[in-house]
Amino acid sequence: MDQNQLKKLVGEKSVEFVKDNMILGLGTGTTVKYMVDALGKRVQEEGLHITGVTTSERTAQQAKSLGIPLKSVDEVDHIDLTIDGSDEISSDFQGIKGGGAALLFEKIVAINSDKVMWIVDESKLSPKLGSFPLPVEVIPYGSQKVFERFEKKGLNPKFRIDPQTNERVRTDSNNYVIDLYLHEIDHPHTLAKYLISQVGVVEQGLFLDMVNTVIVGRQDGPEVIQ
Ligand code: 5RP
Repeated sequence: MDQNQLKKLVGEKSVEFVKDNMILGLGTGTTVKYMVDALGKRVQEEGLHITGVTTSERTAQQAKSLGIPLKSVDEVDHIDLTIDGSDEISSDFQGIKGGGAALLFEKIVAINSDKVMWIVDESKLSPKLGSFPLPVEVIPYGSQKVFERFEKKGLNPKFRIDPQTNERVRTDSNNYVIDLYLHEIDHPHTLAKYLISQVGVVEQGLFLDMVNTVIVGRQDGPEVIQ
């Protein structure tokens, strides 16, 4: 199986955990796209009743097109389960997210969820975080100053550029993303605290102590880790 087939496998496996009447956080990304397709199928074919809370415009458009009813995070009193992808997961189940620039809404939905599940192909697993560049969402005003501060601290920052337009990527909240090329993150909690304390930073992509279940797409089938 190639990477896309593994993503499809875990996307489809994850919807087996969805029960009638659940309020469900819907993540963002290519793996989640398969999950939302499978969920839409259950809604249409089995009459499964769920409410989705989306984490990006992209996922909202897809869910709407499949007839999945949606509410915003502020309109629900709880979220039973959020299913999302991840860019990297360490052996102690800490994660980096934001490769799709949706980290802010993804984190808001995740921290308001009773349970969080990540669905990944096996290439996303690594012993230690840092091989995937760490995304930091910043307000455009003063972002050059934030960038320079990161540079001085040796965090190897780069503004994320959209290859199609050659312009800086804008998030759904119209902010920029600075990616930190760190290679290895020795102390993720310390780094997370530093980043979020910087004025102008809206959110950072370390998702720590947040996940309850990981489904890994492996060649011999999906592995559910709880
Ligand atoms: C978006 C994310 C995604 O969950 C992450 O980038 C994984 O994406 P994909 O499933 O396309 O590999 O954090 O901000």
